[in-house]
Parts: sequence; C-alpha cells; structure tokens
Amino acid sequence: MTLDISFSKAPYKNTEAAVICFYDDKESSPSVGSLNYEFKGFVDHVLEKSKSFKGKSGQIEILMLPEGSPYSYVVLLGCGKREDFTKIEAEKLGGKLLCALEAKKIESVEFYADNELSSCGALTAHIAVGLALRSYKFELYQSPKSDDEDDRIMLSLVHFVLFESDVASELYAVQACVNQGVFLARDLVNEPPNILYPDSYAKRIKEQLKPLGVEIEVLDEKKMRKLGMGAILAVGQGSDNPPRMVIMRWNGDKTSTDAPLAFVGKGVTFDTGGISLKPGAGMEDMKMDMGGSAAVVGLMKSLALREAKVNVVAIVGLAENMPSARAYRPADIITSYAGKTIEVLNTDAEGRLVLADALSYVQDIYKPSLIIDLATLTGAMLIALGHEYCGTFVTDDALWEQMERAGKASDEKLWRMPLDKVWKKDMEGTISDTQNMAKSGRWAGSCTAAGFLWHFIDDDTPWAHMDIAGTAWIKTDKDIAPKYGTGFGVRVLDRFVAENYEQS
Ligand code: BES
Ligand code: MG
Ligand code: ZN
Repeated sequence: MTLDISFSKAPYKNTEAAVICFYDDKESSPSVGSLNYEFKGFVDHVLEKSKSFKGKSGQIEILMLPEGSPYSYVVLLGCGKREDFTKIEAEKLGGKLLCALEAKKIESVEFYADNELSSCGALTAHIAVGLALRSYKFELYQSPKSDDEDDRIMLSLVHFVLFESDVASELYAVQACVNQGVFLARDLVNEPPNILYPDSYAKRIKEQLKPLGVEIEVLDEKKMRKLGMGAILAVGQGSDNPPRMVIMRWNGDKTSTDAPLAFVGKGVTFDTGGISLKPGAGMEDMKMDMGGSAAVVGLMKSLALREAKVNVVAIVGLAENMPSARAYRPADIITSYAGKTIEVLNTDAEGRLVLADALSYVQDIYKPSLIIDLATLTGAMLIALGHEYCGTFVTDDALWEQMERAGKASDEKLWRMPLDKVWKKDMEGTISDTQNMAKSGRWAGSCTAAGFLWHFIDDDTPWAHMDIAGTAWIKTDKDIAPKYGTGFGVRVLDRFVAENYEQS
C-alpha cells in the first residue's frame, strides 16, 4: 500500500481525522479558528482544560469527536518551541505522528499546517518527508497476519492544508525522490542473503536504475580475472555465488567535460568471516554487510529520479565471504587490480579487499575529481561511535567541510576521524606490499582499516571513506527509520551533491 501525500490551500474535509499543530505557546493557525467553530469550541475547550497537552515537542493526543463533527478524530500535535522547530525536528515529528496514527488505525488525515503564515511551507514539506520515511515497511516475506480486516488497516492518505501549499508541494516532490533512494537502499539491506547475492544483486541494480537512464556495466568473474582484480576475486572464491562488480554512470550534465564524482560501495552480501569464521551468535546481522553498496545504489536512484545536473560514476564490489574448500586462506598472498600484493592475515577483513579493487579501478578508468566510499567496514566503528555518527576519514579539508555541512542538513551525522600515515605504514606488509591486518594489533581498528584503503588512493585525488558499520543497521526504531536497514548515506550524499556539484 502506498501513502498518498498532497498539499493544498483549502481542506477537503473528507478524511477520518484532522491534525492540528501547536507550539508550546499553544497558539494555532487561523484556519483552526474556523475548525474550532465547527467543532463547537471543542479545540479551545481541550486546550484550556487539558493538563497534559502542552504543545511540547512530539506530544500527540488523539481525541474522538462526537457524531456530526466534520472528522471522526482530532489529533493535537505539539511542535515544541518555535525557535527550536527546525527542518530536522519537523521530520522527526512527522515520523512520530505516523506511528501515533498507525497505532490508532487511522487511514486518512487532513493536516492543518498554517501555524505562521510565512515560512511554514518548508517545515511542512519536512514533516511530510519524515512521515513518509517512517512509513517504510519491509513485508515481502510475511503472510497476512490474520483474517481480521482491522489488522490490515494502514495510513494511506495525508493531505496538508496550508497557505504556502505550492512551496511545500514543490519541495516535497524533490525530497520524495530522495526518499525513494532511501527506500531502495533499505530494501536491499533487508533482503535475505539467499535472495540477494552478487548476481541477483547486479540484476536488481539493472532493473532499478536502467529505466531511469543510468548506464550499467556488470563485470562478471571472467572479466574481473582478465582485469586482474585478484582482491575481490579472492574474497568471493569460497562461495558458490561468484562475485560481481557493477559500474553505474549518471550523466546528468551533458555540457560538462569535468571529471565525474565517484562513489564506491562495499557490497559483501553475506560475511561469515570466511575461514577466519565469525562466532555464530549474531552472524545473521551480516546480511547487512552490503550496506555501503546499497547506499550508493540508492543515491544513484535519487540523483536519477530528480534528474540531477551532475556527472557521477558509481561502483559497487559484490561478493559473498564464505568458508569452503575453495575459500581463500589466512596467509594467502593475493595481487590486487593496482598490482600491489596483499597478504591476507584474516579472511574476515574482507571489505577492504573488495574496496581496494573497486577504488583502484574507478580511479584508473574514470579519473574522478573526488572519491567517496561507503562501507560497513569495522566492528571497531560501532565501539567508537555507536549508531548515531558515521566515522568519516577524509584526505582533504575542503571536502570534509562540504560533507560535514551536508551531514548537518540531512541529519545523517558525520564525525571526522583521523587519517594518519602511521596507520598507512602499519598496513604495509612484511613479505608483501600490504597486509590486511595491522602490525600493531587490534587498536584503532577503524583507523588502520582506513590506512589500508589509503594504499589504493592516488595522491592527488581527494578521498573520503565513510565507515557505516554502526549507522547502516539498527535494532530499535528511530523517529524516521524503522528498525533494520536504515538507508544511511543516501540523504547526506544527495545533499552533498546538490549543494556543491549541481549546475542549476
Ligand atoms: N563486516 C565486518 C564489520 C562489521 C562488524 C560491520 C559489525 C557491521 C557490524 C567486517 O568485514 C569485519 O569482519 N571486520 C573485522 C576486521 C578485523 C578482522 C580486522 C572486525 O571488525 O572485526
Ligand atoms: Mg568481515
Ligand atoms: Zn564485512
């Protein structure tokens, strides 16, 4: 079921519920005045008498109206302090509202959004964005819960009523494209590994993006062998599902001859650890080890849907890390696409190997103006920053500033982590060029992983590495993201591209 979101200046009064929002001064919109009249003074009565509803941020009260009222329910929604009500807060509020409405099994609402006649278009659009993001569901594999009709009731229509409906509608239309990218990324992460493996994943990317005008090239293992991609091939060799590399090109700016932006994603469709096998408990979560690639694919969908005037190349390395008689071993020395040899000291440090080949290839073939990679690379990232911030390693201060700004604007928060030559050196080999485990041991595991990747980056290409191990997957709901795949990375990178690299 899809959620229909629309905006207009006048109410239709054909919905089940009316939502009215208040700041903590309890002042509401002029339109609520007339509604109050129709409700026979009920809203004023509630505001005056209720000791619980104060218009605090996120406060929601759903009241049933008497027969003969224009709606069955009135929903009072608190926006908190006027000066604190930012776009990000608006999105979170939208998410909270969605949950409250679904809990009450309300199917359609009219949202009176005119709190201030000026500047509420943007805030309203963001309430809608948050509401839509929270409404995401992954129920492909669930049989209907019961025969009870009521169990299947879902919110299907939200109509915003506001003076600046045109502003809101236009802004929302753009953000809805980004939401589609987020939903695709979430879907990919949530898919089980028996359904989503490198070959089926490559096909899914084609299905999703080709119709939108994204050029797709898939490298199978034969092509990769010819190209000398020994690192990703080693990771995938233990599996019956052979690896793939998928290259996506979005050429939205036909007038430009500038080098493209490059995005690279780790797509390990399941990470058992390989011969360096992971413990059984919690291993099922390792279906999310393709979260970096999912964000890259979601980003491409968002850019294509909103026809972004920018040229981008994206590449995802897809492999399944399995133990078997054919699997790569600790102590193997492999040769990467760049020609550098890597001694494998732990087959569970596989993401960096997949990325090494993807990073080298994208630089070699496309000479991009900058590279950003995303990967669920290290457990150490979770230890350092948990689920709230994404550790970001950047070679270039100007690039970091752009990313940090985009992170704040999208509420996909980034935290700069140190890139230090010490860790690059730490990943040099003793009998090979590099090795996939640090000589210094397990400390600063996210930083040494970044130090390894650095070996595969040209000196003059600005580069950022986002370790999304903590942010790609959550086990408890957030305001705008239900649990499991979050789609983290799509929103921040869409913002990053829109703010800094698009021709208007
Ligand atoms: N995919 C894991 C990292 C990971 C862990 C992502 C937890 C999300 C949640 C990665 O391939 C891995 O296994 N890393 C090892 C590296 C170690 C062997 C140097 C780790 O973090 O333990
Ligand atoms: Mg691993
Ligand atoms: Zn992994």
